[in-house]
Parts: sequence; structure tokens; C-alpha cells
Amino acid sequence: MARSRWVAAALSPALITTAIAGAVFSVPQTASAAPVTYQSENATISQGVVESNHAGFTGTGFVNFDNVTGSYVEYTVNAAQAGTHSLTFRYANGTTANRPVNVTINGNPGVSNLAFPGTGAWTSWQSVTTNVTLAAGDNVIRTTATTANGGPNADSLTVDSTTGNPPPTGTPVEINGQLHVCGTKLCNERNQPIQLRGMSTHGIQWYAQCIKTASLDALANDWNADIFRISMYIQEGGYQTNPRKFTDLVHGYIEEATKRGMYALVDWHQLSPGDPNYNTARAKTFFTEIAQRHKDKKNIIYDIANEPNGVSWANVKRYAEEMIPVIRAQDPDGVVFVGTHGWSTFGISDGKSETEVFNNPINATNFMYTFHFYAASHKDSYLNALSRIADRVPVFVTEFGTQTSSGDGGNDFTMSQRYIDLMASKKIGWTNWNFSDDERSGAVFKEGTCSGNNFTGTGPLKPAGVWVRDRVRSPDNFPS
Ligand code: GCU
Repeated sequence: MARSRWVAAALSPALITTAIAGAVFSVPQTASAAPVTYQSENATISQGVVESNHAGFTGTGFVNFDNVTGSYVEYTVNAAQAGTHSLTFRYANGTTANRPVNVTINGNPGVSNLAFPGTGAWTSWQSVTTNVTLAAGDNVIRTTATTANGGPNADSLTVDSTTGNPPPTGTPVEINGQLHVCGTKLCNERNQPIQLRGMSTHGIQWYAQCIKTASLDALANDWNADIFRISMYIQEGGYQTNPRKFTDLVHGYIEEATKRGMYALVDWHQLSPGDPNYNTARAKTFFTEIAQRHKDKKNIIYDIANEPNGVSWANVKRYAEEMIPVIRAQDPDGVVFVGTHGWSTFGISDGKSETEVFNNPINATNFMYTFHFYAASHKDSYLNALSRIADRVPVFVTEFGTQTSSGDGGNDFTMSQRYIDLMASKKIGWTNWNFSDDERSGAVFKEGTCSGNNFTGTGPLKPAGVWVRDRVRSPDNFPS
């Protein structure tokens, strides 16, 4: 389903974005200990020089490590209180080779071989974040090159107190914590079934301009969304074209969802080709890094196959059973979602029935199947199937629209409301397609909205947006 929705977007080159990960955000910190940035040019340098010949640095320059093992930059940072702190290194690496460093804290081992992959150019600056334990007061943080290439060009180190900055209270993540699958439901950390409701991005290769401070603040605080689906296409100009860029975009979006207390659903948006096995090697690389970095967060959910199509259920199951252990190796308690054949309809859009999955279930634990529908195309037979499915196996609706399966056309709000009522009664979680301003009826914002900063209220919304915002923002019913 929704086969053609990326095609027209691909024909809108004016809307294609090249946003740089993290560049568009500024989230106010609420805790007393604000993050502090230390410029590398003021640090203690051994076998390196301060330079300023590559634009884009902050402060007055950056450190160019000598190209030798053992060259280092040493920062003295102050922690208001002992505990876990995040270290964010801003850097550039104009080569294609990783330039790892060992991070020591007060002479003790901290992080081994922290990776600083190529950024594409010496003028292209990116961030790497890691968590360490600091003592109260001054701490000496040394970053030492572990290869003969030396370290990356080091612009700055930003230190933030994670223990001093608890997640905002009363947010969906604060209330529910780490999720797990319990029977056919998604349960919170108190083992109570919950329903999550939120929005999916459009393809981040096209609509990254719709994911910024103002829009995410609106999603979290005006729409009261519980969950944010990050839709990363693999083909169609997505991940395959620049794995580093897209992985970094997703890292950044996960952090933004986390700061706002929303669950972050990482969507491996395979679509064409429809056989997920085509992209298994890429998926392993991507999810290993994502899970490794975010495994300690309580709010990450992994969706390993958006819409399998033109592929048998047996082959989707084979892919899932290969991928789930890859994620679990990094993040043992992470919930995984798996798309189903026939564009995530349990085979129904292939003219089959859901019993094929019931009779040959995925051999794994703590996962949910996914189901997609577009209410103007998929009427009673799909609605009834979703109802039967939810009684038998764990299911999450990672995409739906109030219009046709192209993501466009007239809205069928009557049919859509029947789905909403079913999903509420069976606590089936959902994310609606989509949080962008493309020209189709299913993109919630009016065209042009994303170039500005006004995302709250109903003013910027198309009819489908007005309708779905009401249904996202109605009060949660999270059991205590
Ligand atoms: C180039 C670049 C430097 C960089 C160096 C390196 O000389 O201009 O900024 O530090 O390569 O490979 O480390």
C-alpha cells in the first residue's frame, strides 16, 4: 500500500533537503546545570597544533592532532555533581577513515576507541556523544589518538549532566519508562498495557526541513504526541546514498525525541525493492550502530521492515529472525517491530489472510508485527482483519492515513474514526502518516509550513491534520 507516495516527492526537487544533522535544534535545558562547552584551542595539547584554516569551527580555531598514535588533547572540565555526564565532541574528519581516540577520565580508562568517522570534508563538522562518569569538581578528560592517522580535527567538547537533567516529568516516557511486549499488548515498566499515539515523519531524505525545534516542540507540547516515528528510506535517495549522513540524522532525531519525553520509533523504511532481505547487510550495519549508541535509553523502538511487498511471508520471517538477534546483541531489552507482507497488511493486500502469520509466527520474543491501512482504500475487510489480528498477536499500526493508499485524495473520516475506536478499545498503538508539508492530503501541514516556525494550533494544518491532531492530543489513558 502507499506504493506511489514517494514518487511524486521525488519529482519535487525544490523540496529535497540537505539538512545537516543536529544543525537546526536548540532545546532549552531546564535543569540547574546547563551544558558547558570547552574549546579545544584552550585545552592542553600534546603533539598537535591550533589551526583555523577550515571554516565552520566555533571559538577561535580547532586542534589538528599530529598524525601519530599517542597525540592527545586534554580538557579540564568541571562537574557540579558526581554522576553520569554526556561528552559531546564537535569535530571534522575530511578523510574516509575512522580516527578513533581513547577517552580517559582523571587518568582512568573511560571509553576505548571512540569512533570519529569521516564527515565528508574538513569543513564539515559533526558531533559524537558518549556518556561517562565524572567526579564532583574538576575532571581531566584526555582524548588520545589510537591510530597513526592521529585524531580528527577537534573543535570543542560540551559536557552536560545527565543525572542533573532528569527527563521532563509527566511525559509519556517519564510515566511509562522502558516498554516490553506482554501477551498481545505493549506494556509499560509497571507491566500495564498502554496505547501510544503519535506521528510519522515523511521520508527524511525529502522532508528533514519539517523536523526542527519548533515542529518537534509542537508535536510534543501542542499535539501531546507519545511517539515519533523516524522514517528513513533505504532506497529512493535514502540511506543507501549516504549511510553516514542518514545514520547521523537518525541519531540526532532520537536525541530530540528523548529530550521531549517521546518514544522514538526508528523506521527502516524499505519499500522498493520490497524484499527486506535485499537490505539485510545494510540493516545490520545501521541497527548495530543505532542500538549500540542508544541502548541505555528507555524510549527507543526498532522497526526493521516498513512495508515488505512482492515477497513471501516465509522470507519476511527469515529476515526478522536474522535481524532481531543483531539488535538484541546490543540492546537486550529493546522492543522490535516487524512489517508484514503485502505492505504490512499481514498479506491481505496480496489477497491472502492473516492466518499465514498465525500459522508460521516469528520465532522471537519482545516484538510486535505491524499493520498499515489507508481508510479511504481499506474498509471493513481490513478493519475486521486488524481486530482479529489484535486478539491473536502483538500488533502496532506504524502507518495509517485518512485518505487513499497513495497518501492523497479525499479523506474518509467516518471510516478512519472506526479504526481509531477499534485501536483505542484494543490498545493498539499508532503513528499517522505524515508530519510534513508535501502537497498530498495526508501530509498534515499546508504546503510551505516547514519553511517557517509556526507549527502549533490548527492554522498550519490541512483537514487531515486538524482531524488527526485532535486524536493524538486527546488525553492519554496511561495506567499507573
Ligand atoms: C589535512 C587537513 C588538516 C588535517 C590533516 C589530517 O592536512 O588540512 O586540517 O588535520 O589533513 O589528516 O589530520
